[in-house]
Amino acid sequence: MTEDEVTEPALAPAPAPSAPALPSDSLLDQLELSTGHFQRGQGIDLSGLSEAASSVPDAARGQFSPDAPTPCAFITGRAGSGKTWTIRERCSSDPQYAALASSTGISAINLNTVTIHSLLGFFDTDSLRDAYLHGSAQRRLRKVADEGFRNVVVDECSMIGRETLDLLVRVFDDVNLHREEKGEGPVGLILLGDFGQLPSIADRPAGYRPTPGRRSKSLPTPWCFESQFWGRFAENETRLMKVWRQTDPRFLAALDFARAGRGRESLEVLRSSGFAFSDSVDMVYKGTTVVGKNDEVDRINQLRLDRERGRLIQLPSRRWAAGGKTRPEWKHIPDRTILREGCYVMILANQYDEGRMVYANGDCGWVRGIESAHGTQPSVMVELVRTGEVVAVQSLVRDISHLEKPQWVSAAEWPEQGKESDGRFLAQPHYRKAKGRYVVGQMEYYPLRLAYATTLHKAQGLTMDSCQVDIRSWMMKSPAMIYTALSRCRTLAGLRLVGTAEMFADRCKADPKVARWL
Ligand SMILES: Nc1ncnc2c1ncn2[C@@H]1O[C@H](COP(=O)(O)OP(=O)(O)OP(=O)(O)O)[C@@H](O)[C@H]1O
Ligand SMILES: [Mg+2]
Repeated sequence: MTEDEVTEPALAPAPAPSAPALPSDSLLDQLELSTGHFQRGQGIDLSGLSEAASSVPDAARGQFSPDAPTPCAFITGRAGSGKTWTIRERCSSDPQYAALASSTGISAINLNTVTIHSLLGFFDTDSLRDAYLHGSAQRRLRKVADEGFRNVVVDECSMIGRETLDLLVRVFDDVNLHREEKGEGPVGLILLGDFGQLPSIADRPAGYRPTPGRRSKSLPTPWCFESQFWGRFAENETRLMKVWRQTDPRFLAALDFARAGRGRESLEVLRSSGFAFSDSVDMVYKGTTVVGKNDEVDRINQLRLDRERGRLIQLPSRRWAAGGKTRPEWKHIPDRTILREGCYVMILANQYDEGRMVYANGDCGWVRGIESAHGTQPSVMVELVRTGEVVAVQSLVRDISHLEKPQWVSAAEWPEQGKESDGRFLAQPHYRKAKGRYVVGQMEYYPLRLAYATTLHKAQGLTMDSCQVDIRSWMMKSPAMIYTALSRCRTLAGLRLVGTAEMFADRCKADPKVARWL
């Protein structure tokens, strides 16, 4: 076809915009919009968040029972109700309160924690069973308890399966029975999460091979609340009631309906706010596009990066570990992150300056350059969407460390890191004097990744400024996907939904099994 032959397809006339109908008061009235802070079986604490944080259960302070030697607790609440924030506040005021862990590698990187898998030395349900049978998981947990932690918190617990929780409780019970015999206090297990969000993935039967070219059959979700031990968590459940991530009552109402699987009502509220659906993905969208697959994410990020003309910036990461034993979740950090000036990135860390939040996990912005200061690693300058401020993102160093000198590390000497170099990268076993810990591995990296696209799983736990969600994707057919995606975004203005209103109404689904938390 020559250029002359190119014809413009006739466009259907745009429908005349209809005046948005306000949702009936009764529709909004049906919702118990979250205004309180905190609710427990024992009552409601409305006295403010710091108190709320200090009132989150200290599982390990209960009465000992030989049938249930592990104190258990469950902290839940809608997306953005401050579950992660509250626990972090609790830990920063009382560092021995809990060792923080997360249910998946990606959430561990997003939340700057370790996975429960690497904390206890397993990688899937089968290896957890082996680690329990051989006692290696108990040995790991004993070390955590010996370091003085009273609890282990597992964030994003909706992604933990039933059998995994059964085994985890067995590991904790074993350890706590021994601790009780020795007159030591127990270590509690606190689950943190929202069953209205991403579910766990069923383990495939042994020997299962998917048929090439065919989508594998979905298996029912093995929810952790179906564990034989769930009753112990249920009797110590705390619900955080106030949603902090969003403030617009209509957006909150639309989110609540979507969460409950009431797509029509959610749609009605969205329409009343003048929200319009888009019919195609905007390839130059000024924000993050949520897509189904990792390779799609990589391709979109690459294409968008290719359009940038700014200076190339290569950010290396480096790591070492005695005996090669790095943490499995570190595999999610690439050896090199390639950016350009002007490109759109997400920051995966929190930074405070004298109590003021400089940037928060999930903050997005544009790279404006690199700045070097004498004696430190260069900083990447990022202009934040949220505030317009240009902030300096520094590299982070993560340690694998122990209170006791590990006997299995055959280091000739353990050089001491003093105050001036505390926490810096030093690629050999060493002793951090300020922390009193023996370091046997480290990773240094920039907590930045390209943010033009992400999978929903990579966005779990994050707060985002603007996102475009393609609800036509097959992935969005599953329960909770639309709610999880929508609830990442702070504002309705920052949200772009690609697909039809009908499709939206049909695809807001909730698993009936989680109804009691919706
Ligand atoms: N008490 C608070 N005061 C101010 N901001 C808060 C407070 N609690 C939470 N936030 C902010 O609200 C946002 C959501 O908090 P957080 O990520 O802890 O929610 P969450 O319940 O863990 O959500 P998700 O279910 O998506 O993981 C964050 O940006 C956080 O900084
Ligand atoms: Mg969270």
